[in-house]
Amino acid sequence: MIQNRFSERVLGIEMSGIRRFFEAAKPDSINLGLGQPDFHTPEHIKEAAIQAIHDNQTGYTFNTGLFELREALSDKFRHDNNLEYSPEQIIVTAGAGEALHIALEALVDKGDRVLYQDPGFVSYEAGAVLAGGRPEGVTLDSNLHIDIEACKEQMDGARLFILNSPGNPTGAVESEETIKAIVEYGNDAGVTILSDEVYEHFVYDKNHYSAANYGDDVITVNAASKTYSMTGWRLGFLAGPDEYIEQCIKVHQYCQTCATSISQHAALAAYTGDQTCVREMKKEYAKRRELIYNGLTGLGFEFPKPEGAFYAFVPMDHETIQKIIDARVIVIPGDAFGINALNYARFSYAASREDITEALSRIEKVLR
Ligand SMILES: Cc1ncc(COP(=O)(O)O)c(C=O)c1O
Repeated sequence: MIQNRFSERVLGIEMSGIRRFFEAAKPDSINLGLGQPDFHTPEHIKEAAIQAIHDNQTGYTFNTGLFELREALSDKFRHDNNLEYSPEQIIVTAGAGEALHIALEALVDKGDRVLYQDPGFVSYEAGAVLAGGRPEGVTLDSNLHIDIEACKEQMDGARLFILNSPGNPTGAVESEETIKAIVEYGNDAGVTILSDEVYEHFVYDKNHYSAANYGDDVITVNAASKTYSMTGWRLGFLAGPDEYIEQCIKVHQYCQTCATSISQHAALAAYTGDQTCVREMKKEYAKRRELIYNGLTGLGFEFPKPEGAFYAFVPMDHETIQKIIDARVIVIPGDAFGINALNYARFSYAASREDITEALSRIEKVLR
C-alpha cells in the first residue's frame, strides 16, 4: 500500500459545504442558495464574444491578458476606485478565484498566518491551507462588521489579511474608517492586504472604499463575474505594486497560461461599454433586498439589513433551517462559511422577486 499518497495540504481541507445542499434539495425548490447573479450576460458583451470567435481570437493571449483589456481595467480603477494601476500592474485571471489563488501561492509560506473575516467566503480558509498557511478567522461584531481593535491584535505577526467588502456571506459593507485602519495598521505591522472587491458595485445605502487607497502593501482582486453577470465566463483580475505582480505572474504563468481569450474580448466590451446594465442590476437587487428584508423581519427574524452584495445573513437554529429546506426553499446553513456562523443561514436574493415572494410564503406557512 502506498503511504502518504496525498499532500497534507489537500487532506487538510474538506469539500465546500455548499454543494451538498443543492444535491439534497427537493426538485421543485426555490433556490435562494446561489452565489451568482440570475441575470443574463448583457447582449453587447455576448456579441463581442461571438465576434471574437468569428475573428478567430481563439489562441493564447499575452500571459497577463490582452493589453487593451488591461488598459480598460486601468481606466476602470481610476474612475471607479480612485486607484492608479498601470496595465503592467494588472494580471487578467480565470475569475477572482484564480486571482486569490495566485496571490496566496505567491505570498504565503508554510505556517504563515492568514486572516479573513469569519463568517467569510468559502475559498479563503481552504486557499490558505492549500498554500501551506494557517488560516485564522477574524470574529465579527453582532452587526457582522470588523471590530478594528480586536482585529489589530490578531494582525500582529500575520502574513496576510484577506479583506472582503461588500462581504459574502454577510452582506456587510465596511466603512472607510475601518478599511483605512486595517490597511494602515496591517501594512505597518508587515501584513499585506488582499482586498476582494467582487461585489463593489452592489452597495445600497453606503459607499465602497478600495483598500489600496490607504496603503502600499495591498493587492486588489476583482472580476467581471458579479458585476456583469458573467460568472461562467471565468474572467477576473488582480492588481498590485510592481514587486507583487512580478511574483504573482510566475504562479499565473505556470497554472493558467492566460484567461480564456473569448472571455477577455467579452470583458473588454463590458468594461469599455455602456454601464447602464450594471446600474439596472443594482436597482433590481435593491428592490429584492427590501422584499427579503421586510419579509423575513415580518416573520420575526432579526438581522442587520444587508448593505451590499446580494445576501441576507440571518441568525436561526438548525431546526428552523431544516424546516425551510423541507418547505422547498434552498438556503445555505451558515456553518459552510466558518466556525462563527453555526447559527445562521444565508439567503441569496439573486433570484426573481416572484421567487422571493413565493419563498417567503412557503417559509411563513411552515413556521406558522
Ligand atoms: C467574495 C467572493 N470572492 C470571489 C468569488 C469568486 O469569484 P469568481 O467567480 O470570479 O472566481 C466569489 C464567488 O462567489 C465571492 O463571493
